[in-house]
Amino acid sequence: MAKQIVMLGPPGAGKGTQAKMLAEKLGVPHVSSGDIFRENLRAQTELGRHAGVYINRGELVPDDVTIAMIRERISRRDCNDGVLLDGFPRTAAQAEALDEMLSDLDKGQVVAVAEALDEMLSDLDKGQVVAVPCIIVPEDVLIERLTGRRTCRAQGHVFHIAFNPPVQAGVCDFDGSELYQREDDTVETVTNRIRVYHERTQPLIDYYQQRGVLLEIDGNRPIEAVFDGILSALTGV
Ligand code: AP5
Repeated sequence: MAKQIVMLGPPGAGKGTQAKMLAEKLGVPHVSSGDIFRENLRAQTELGRHAGVYINRGELVPDDVTIAMIRERISRRDCNDGVLLDGFPRTAAQAEALDEMLSDLDKGQVVAVAEALDEMLSDLDKGQVVAVPCIIVPEDVLIERLTGRRTCRAQGHVFHIAFNPPVQAGVCDFDGSELYQREDDTVETVTNRIRVYHERTQPLIDYYQQRGVLLEIDGNRPIEAVFDGILSALTGV
């Protein structure tokens, strides 16, 4: 039976930041729908040009396009032992499609570093998605985080001008590339993204809660404290 983790939370909650750390700890690929769209946008593929229209307005890319993209990504060999999904699913239709695609693809098990985590994953093996950490942060903090975010051009490393600044302003600590502000990180677009989240993604919280896999995480703490909170919730400590 497949074992998969979905990271849920509003824009700016810290899903990407935490997902990278958790995927590394668990030894599974971090698959971010937003990152894949942005890579395609940079490369000016047909998918990127199509998605860019929605992204820059703070709207969701249509379900059929998004589902096909994720299906292709998680059918690759590196996801055979599990995957950490960040930003997908985001609508009820995507959540249903994910259940279907995971059972069709018959994915294997997450190789967990901690024994306790492995046990937790077996206990929670009720379907396909086994754990859904949902990061909760007040709206004013989300806006502050997103408008101050800076992203690395080469590999998408994420910083914040006040909360997580690079050593040298405007330069990525990891690969020396330029840091830029995402086009959808303006106050106006961020406000729309948060509205869209409440409308389209909030219902997934009930969906996963009813399945007993939702883990509510207080995201209004320093990055390391949030990470410890996620690990504790996953291992039931
Ligand atoms: P996507 O890239 O997924 O954006 P998002 O969900 O809006 O999330 P963000 O990446 O903005 O925030 P995050 O929660 O990852 O926060 P981060 O860790 O960076 O999607 C972009 C667009 O693509 C969507 O609007 C949509 O158009 C489209 N799309 C994507 N998936 C789709 C789907 N499934 N269906 C349809 N359309 C889709 O942190 C934010 C900032 O805060 C950073 O600067 C960070 O350094 C800082 N920070 C993080 N944690 C903390 C902390 N604990 N304390 C202080 N600062 C912190």
